[in-house]
Amino acid sequence: MNKVHAVITGIGGYIPEYVLTNEEISTYVDTSNEWILQRIGIKERRILKPEEGVGVTYLAEKAIEDLRSKKDFDPLEIEAIIFATSTPDYILPNSASLIAYKTGMTNAFGFDLSAACSGYIYALEVASVYISSGKYKKVMVIAGDVLSVLTDTLDRNTCPIFSDACGVALLEATTEEEGIIDSILHVDGNSLEYLHMLGGGSVHPASHETVDQRMHFIQQDGKVVFKRAVTSMAEVCEEIIQKNHLTKDDVKWVVPHQANLRIIEAVASRLDIPLDKVMVNIDKYGNSSAGTIPLCLWDWEKHMRKGDNVILTAFGAGYTWGAVYLKWGYNA
Ligand SMILES: CC(C)(COP(=O)(O)OP(=O)(O)OC[C@H]1O[C@@H](n2cnc3c(N)ncnc32)[C@H](O)[C@@H]1OP(=O)(O)O)[C@@H](O)C(=O)NCCC(=O)NCCS
Repeated sequence: MNKVHAVITGIGGYIPEYVLTNEEISTYVDTSNEWILQRIGIKERRILKPEEGVGVTYLAEKAIEDLRSKKDFDPLEIEAIIFATSTPDYILPNSASLIAYKTGMTNAFGFDLSAACSGYIYALEVASVYISSGKYKKVMVIAGDVLSVLTDTLDRNTCPIFSDACGVALLEATTEEEGIIDSILHVDGNSLEYLHMLGGGSVHPASHETVDQRMHFIQQDGKVVFKRAVTSMAEVCEEIIQKNHLTKDDVKWVVPHQANLRIIEAVASRLDIPLDKVMVNIDKYGNSSAGTIPLCLWDWEKHMRKGDNVILTAFGAGYTWGAVYLKWGYNA
């Protein structure tokens, strides 16, 4: 009998309406449109305004609505919901439960998965293993963040980078040689010093002091993170390409996490893969953490063809990183 693979059969996405421009950021920190474009590659990003009174599950609900406008499926047939996020609506209950309720996927079980910017590729791996085990046939993978709530608008090291977005993928079982073929994932706990948000967890629960010390915002040593991101993503992509006996010509698309255009260009250059095969939309949407890779797939869906070899790669806090090799399953 042929091996069962998990294949993506539909993609949905959602970006909030508010466009935060470099010019607007320059009104509250000492930066400029030119600096942000040159050093990060972002022209504008989307932000969920706090006045809207909603959180990340609102973005997820909208992304699922988008998926349903293109793909006919019964929400009651979904057996599992995996929601990759670092910015759940609440600590309790988990956001996967709220999404199940709001979107009618009430026959599923679901949980949130925390792996920062690598959340989407981690979630794909979990969904893939569930499906290839034979026990589950339809799994909804959702990945997104409202990073604007963790962003210190007084910190020019981080505030031009982060944004809000969400993407979803429906995964189904297939016995064809397509879908998720392989993945290599890593975790290594040494990012605490260089990329963290220290407040609000069990070590530093929220207090007047944590608020006064701005501990509820992400802080980073950008240079250290930059170097690790380039090396780790380039190495793991090279490894998965070789392990699956692909040539660089066989690879149709590389879909990197969108953290900095210079990181993406450096990874492509180390892999010797031309930039026209690399999905880049950081200029429009910034870094929405777990949301960036599904948002690229959403943006490029109409250009992808059944059988395309696709390499997804991410790097994030933890550190967490890895690569997934999949064969695209449909023509949009
Ligand atoms: C944060 C990051 C954009 C900074 O870019 P950089 O080129 O490394 O810049 P540096 O930190 O070396 O700073 C260079 C200069 O620009 C200044 N600078 C930093 N941020 C600035 C900003 N937003 N606007 C203007 N100047 C800025 C610095 O103060 C420094 O000035 P100095 O030379 O007078 O000291 C970059 O390191 C980065 O993207 N790192 C990865 C971060 C990341 O991806 N995090 C999420 C992980 S998934």
